[in-house]
Amino acid sequence: MNKSVILTGLRVNSDFTLGNYLGAIKPMVMLANKYANTHQLNMFIPDLHTITVDVDYEGLNKAILNGVKDYVAEGLPIENQNVYTYRQSYISAHSELTWILDCFTGFGEASRMVEFKDKSQKIGEDRVSIGLFNYPILMAADILLYNALWVPVGEDQRQHIELTRTIAQRFNNKFGNIFTVPKNLLEQAKFVGVEKSLRIRSLKYPNNKMSKSISDPAGTILLNDNPKQAAKKIMSATTDDFAKINYDWDKQPGITNLLQIYMSLSDETKEQTLDKWQDKNNYGDFKRELASIVEAFLTKFQQERNKIDESTLIHKLKISESKMQEQANAKLLSVQKAVGLR
Ligand code: ADP
Ligand code: TRP
Repeated sequence: MNKSVILTGLRVNSDFTLGNYLGAIKPMVMLANKYANTHQLNMFIPDLHTITVDVDYEGLNKAILNGVKDYVAEGLPIENQNVYTYRQSYISAHSELTWILDCFTGFGEASRMVEFKDKSQKIGEDRVSIGLFNYPILMAADILLYNALWVPVGEDQRQHIELTRTIAQRFNNKFGNIFTVPKNLLEQAKFVGVEKSLRIRSLKYPNNKMSKSISDPAGTILLNDNPKQAAKKIMSATTDDFAKINYDWDKQPGITNLLQIYMSLSDETKEQTLDKWQDKNNYGDFKRELASIVEAFLTKFQQERNKIDESTLIHKLKISESKMQEQANAKLLSVQKAVGLR
């Protein structure tokens, strides 16, 4: 019997932040390790999605490999045969199926996607690409090509999973059972077992999120940062003058953000961390301990990263791409037949 498929896009960028790490890389790799022996895992790099906005095109190729290395350094089990790591643009069925799905998606329906509305507002209507508008339909193709049942994504991507389900159901009603409809959002959330995804804030401006897309070097820790300098950023993080450590996003976002980083990096529960620090009045002691945790984490992570052999990684990509091409082409052919193109 075929294994059920878990599929997700590993968003790859040159400089991942601690926020990307704790909010995306770490949970994805944990999930991959949990299910690698019982499921097919498609952990792929949506490089065609990457170019829907302006990027550093010259550096893109290198950035993709470097990004995959971060996942591997964290422990993505690429030696496992059930894990497929491939670049979307290497499998042309993704683009071909997108076009066909485009023809079965309403313009109004796609216009309701909140991420597109948000991003296009930021970019400006004249400069926003049609690729960005089409982003969710390409995502639907990514998912439907491989019969994926489980598609773990962050909060901002959930609406795209709903759209995928709608398109798949519509297509199936018209043409018979061609697509596997991914599970609904409630079931997806249960499967992943996370109620709310993490949101790490800037160390400098704790009301904003930590983000590589915003220039805020003192507020942002990058996975490539010198560990000692990263520790200094923790020491000079913005807090408040309540002089009492408290977990309270509204009143004390700075210290709460540091508590969140502390519990995430030390794998403690919220209760454990609060037991230790709640109501303490010495922010310095707490910051010093967190700074050394961050420093140790980065040192170890960068060591792991340096150990990765690039040719092993490229081999994994090539093998996965050739295997997945077979699966994707078979699905594409059944769609082409259904709509009368073959
Ligand atoms: P960025 O804001 O750094 O450009 P992206 O929008 O490229 O991040 O997001 C990449 C992944 O990292 C997404 O899954 C997103 O949910 C996660 N992520 C980004 N920033 C944070 C953050 N500050 N805290 C937690 N997760 C984050
Ligand atoms: N858009 C997703 C993100 O920003 C990445 C992605 C692309 C994806 N295609 C996908 C995720 C298909 C899940 C399934 O995080």
